[in-house]
Amino acid sequence: MERSGTSGDPGVRVLVAFESRKGSTREIVETIAAEINTAGWDVDVIEIKDSPRPDEYGYVIIGGPLHMGKIKGVRNFVDMRNLKGVRPTQLTLAGFSVQNGGK
Ligand SMILES: Cc1cc2nc3c(=O)[nH]c(=O)nc-3n(C[C@H](O)[C@H](O)[C@H](O)COP(=O)(O)O)c2cc1C
Repeated sequence: MERSGTSGDPGVRVLVAFESRKGSTREIVETIAAEINTAGWDVDVIEIKDSPRPDEYGYVIIGGPLHMGKIKGVRNFVDMRNLKGVRPTQLTLAGFSVQNGGK
């Protein structure tokens, strides 16, 4: 994807599917979605629990937090929707901050 103001393909929509328990991943994916939208693409940001439909989109970005080393919600979504190898998919993860000693 290019970053100029009007570079999005007309009619090609981007799905940003995410899971967020405390809100950090939500903030991250909303920031990403705003950038993509500024670049001229139509973007929908939908929580995984609301059953987004990746097959209706040209691109899919998935975000989720690490919990005990696992990305369970994201993994279930990828498996359930058969996303592996289907189309370019970016995984965005939120984990411990490296600042403040990881707190
Ligand atoms: C119970 C629990 C387990 C966690 N396990 C990990 C972990 O294994 N690795 C990691 O990097 N971060 C871990 N974290 C940190 C979260 O991934 C991090 O706070 C993330 O930003 C939370 O995302 P959310 O606000 O979208 O829910 C854990 C947080 C909690 C509450």
